[in-house]
Amino acid sequence: MQDPSGFAFHPARLDRAQQEALVSQVFAALEAAPLYRPVTPGGKSMSVQMSNMGPLGWVTDQAGGYRYQAAHPVTGAPWPAIPAVLLDLWAELADAETPPDACLVNLYRDGARMSLHQDQDEADMRFPVLSVSLGDTAVFRLGGAKRGDPTRSLKLNSGDVCLLAGEARLFFHGVDRVLEGSSTLIPGGGRINLTLRRARPA
Ligand code: SIN
Ligand code: FE2
Repeated sequence: MQDPSGFAFHPARLDRAQQEALVSQVFAALEAAPLYRPVTPGGKSMSVQMSNMGPLGWVTDQAGGYRYQAAHPVTGAPWPAIPAVLLDLWAELADAETPPDACLVNLYRDGARMSLHQDQDEADMRFPVLSVSLGDTAVFRLGGAKRGDPTRSLKLNSGDVCLLAGEARLFFHGVDRVLEGSSTLIPGGGRINLTLRRARPA
């Protein structure tokens, strides 16, 4: 499904075997770059647990706000590499020439949600945002370019991939809730969302 706005939805883009292989790779990366609980610039703990893969990672804390950095904020180590399957998916669906340099890992458990926001910490908004859903189904909300614009709700199931490109690149979006126990994919349960972005200029 390709919306005129530039939003594209690829349901079941990854089959179960591909999802299982990807989850193994993500858990291996999380050994090197453990999940932590980020804090917003306003001082609130986010309900999702986060980590990153790639040359840069998106981080937030009260002192420094939203930003990209090359080191894990807790361990100080560089982030582990982005798995090849995700680089291939980006080349196919997002941008064939310029690879992503950041992959955010969000783990939703125990009622975690993500409030409506825009992704706007990247240098060049011509590069899309590519998002891969794994595990429990999310109730995703997609709005428009302005916070007050009408929104639509769609379910993101395990293996679904969405692209925010063109005008939709700066659309407000969030996760209202996750349907706990709707998937058996993630060891320990929950939902993992992988968000691939190009943070630096090409
Ligand atoms: C995000 O916008 O950072 C995450 C979206 C999602 O979990 O699907
Ligand atoms: Fe986002």
